[in-house]
Amino acid sequence: MTRLTRQGAADYWQERHRTSDPWRAGGDRGWDERTNEVLYYVRLGLLLRMLTNHFGRVSGLRILDAGCGRGWLTGQLRAIGYDAVGVDQSGEAIRLAKEAHSAPFFVAPLEGFACDGRFDAVVAMEVFFHIMDDDQWRQTLRNLARLLDDEGVLIFSAWMGSETVELGDYIVHRSRAQHERLLAELSLRIAVSEPYKLLNCPTSWHLCTRYGCDVSSQRAAAAGKPPSACQAAIGHLRRLVRRRR
Ligand SMILES: C[S@@+](CC[C@H](N)C(=O)[O-])C[C@H]1O[C@@H](n2cnc3c(N)ncnc32)[C@H](O)[C@@H]1O
Repeated sequence: MTRLTRQGAADYWQERHRTSDPWRAGGDRGWDERTNEVLYYVRLGLLLRMLTNHFGRVSGLRILDAGCGRGWLTGQLRAIGYDAVGVDQSGEAIRLAKEAHSAPFFVAPLEGFACDGRFDAVVAMEVFFHIMDDDQWRQTLRNLARLLDDEGVLIFSAWMGSETVELGDYIVHRSRAQHERLLAELSLRIAVSEPYKLLNCPTSWHLCTRYGCDVSSQRAAAAGKPPSACQAAIGHLRRLVRRRR
C-alpha cells in the first residue's frame, strides 16, 4: 500500500477530526467509543507516573502536547497544574480543542512549530507513527528536540519492533533501531518505557532524556522529595471520576 503524502495525511486528519466522535478521532478506530475512552485514561495515568517519577513536581513545568488533536490531554495536564499548551496541524482539531478545553492551542505542523521559550517535556501521544514521510518524521523529531530545555524530556508513544511495519496508508511503526539512530543524533536516548498493557495494544510510552541528564528521578528520590505531583494527579483523577458518575 502506498503511504499517504504529507498533504494527504494532513487532509486525512482534518477529515477524521471533522467526522469522528471525540474518543475515536484520535484513538483506535477498531475499538468502540467507551474502550477508546478507557485507553485515554490508561495513557494519562501512565504518563503522569512517568512525569512524576522524573520531575517529582507539577508546578512550573512547561509541557508541549505535540499533535494534540482535540486537546483532551492538554486539558487534563492543565487541570492538574502543569503549564501545558497544545499544537496540531489540523485546524479542525484545534477549533474543537478550543471549544472543549481552556488552554493555549496552536495550529502548526510539528516540523515547523516555533514559540517563545523551551519546554520541560514535549509529549507526543499517538503521533509519530502517523507521520508517513520519513523526512518529515526526522524534521519533526529534530524540531521538537530543539524545543526542549537542556534537561527537558521527549515523551512519545510508539510500538517499536525489530522491523518497520506499515499498516494501511496512514500508520508506519518504525523499528527500534531506526528510532534509536535518530534519537542518538539528537543526543537523546530512551530512558524509560511504559507499555500500555491494554487489550491487544502493543504500544508503550517512551521517555527520552539527553545524554548526561537522566539522573533527575534518582536525585528526586535521594532527596526524599514530597510526592506533590502524585497528590495533584490523584486529586484530579478523583474529580474526573466524580464528574463521570
Ligand atoms: C492519532 S491522532 C492523536 C491526537 C492526540 N494526540 C490524541 O491522542 O488524542 C494524531 C494527531 O497528530 C496530528 N499530526 C500528525 N502529523 C502531524 C504533523 N506533522 N504536525 C502536526 N500535527 C500532526 C494529526 O493532525 C492528529 O491530530
